[in-house]
Amino acid sequence: MSSLVRFGGRLAVRLRSVTRPQAVVLMAILALCAGVWWSAASGNQGLALSFVATLLLAVLLGILHLSRWIGGVYRAHQNAHREIRTVVEQLQRRVVATVEKERLTAGDRHQELTRTVTRGLRQSGHGTDLLLRAQSREIEALVQLFQQFTPRAPMPSSGDFALNPTDLLDLLHLVRLRQPRLVVELGSGTSSVWLGYALEQHGGRLVSLDHDAGYARQTRAMLGAHGLNAVASVRHAPLRDLTANGKTYQWYDVDKLTDLTGIDLLLVDGPPEATGPDARYPALSVLAKRLAGTATVVLDDANRPDERDAVRRWTEEVPGLTEEQGLLGRHAVLAYSRTGAAVTV
Ligand SMILES: C[S@@+](CC[C@H](N)C(=O)[O-])C[C@H]1O[C@@H](n2cnc3c(N)ncnc32)[C@H](O)[C@@H]1O
Repeated sequence: MSSLVRFGGRLAVRLRSVTRPQAVVLMAILALCAGVWWSAASGNQGLALSFVATLLLAVLLGILHLSRWIGGVYRAHQNAHREIRTVVEQLQRRVVATVEKERLTAGDRHQELTRTVTRGLRQSGHGTDLLLRAQSREIEALVQLFQQFTPRAPMPSSGDFALNPTDLLDLLHLVRLRQPRLVVELGSGTSSVWLGYALEQHGGRLVSLDHDAGYARQTRAMLGAHGLNAVASVRHAPLRDLTANGKTYQWYDVDKLTDLTGIDLLLVDGPPEATGPDARYPALSVLAKRLAGTATVVLDDANRPDERDAVRRWTEEVPGLTEEQGLLGRHAVLAYSRTGAAVTV
């Protein structure tokens, strides 16, 4: 009984979901069934047979319709299947093409990276070689410097802002050979102490200028510690506007130089590059007339474009000034002779 109730429930649910044409067909079949039942009950066999025949025809038509519908559904399914297969194949082709492209790009990148790494390794190896060679040159120079003098206090560091040992070594070689009486240095520091020792040994004095009061004090203290006050002094000469060849530069206060004449050796190592372009160029515009009849000019950092340019302009503008062949380091050496005659060194 309960299964009958369940069947009834399910039937009611299905009947609620039938479409209008399905309901019409169902009603027609029910009407035909009712016609068969009624005509058979009323003994009208002919009419009952007609109803049965109509019912059979309706069932046959239904089966026909159903088979066509199933065929349509099957074809639609096949078409959908084909479309899905096409889409999947296209997707597969695209994925394979993308993967292949990425693989080729990654291969190219890998090759490029390998080349860059190889080049970098070669260059850094070369750079390390150069650095090692430069370091050994500076160590050799330092050993020679300390063989020349026995410092009375710890020596300040060379290199960086100060002259390199190779430049100091050549500078002291020039002092020994040319025996300058008056050395003027633009930019004080470690070099002032080394020059002080050299002048103490060979005779002569050093006047060093510094634009910075702090560094001037520091160099003065170093000279004092080394007992070199008798041969070397530091003047604080702040930077002022100076016009040379129609251009204005920041250069040492020229009032601090008025007593300096007959300079035998001029070391140009200031003002620092950071104070402005061509910072060291004005040196000879101001000091050429204060050089001795025969003098030497040393310019540090002559490997830099501004300093190379200064050397070129000086030799063009100052009669009797010629560049000498450098021995060591990065400085330039220039020989000056007021008469313009060649200088014997
Ligand atoms: C090239 S340095 C002069 C160095 C000096 N002739 C020597 O060889 O030791 C030029 C100026 O830079 C300043 N100076 C010196 N040492 C410095 C440092 N460590 N940092 C920044 N400026 C410095 C000083 O005012 C100095 O006059």
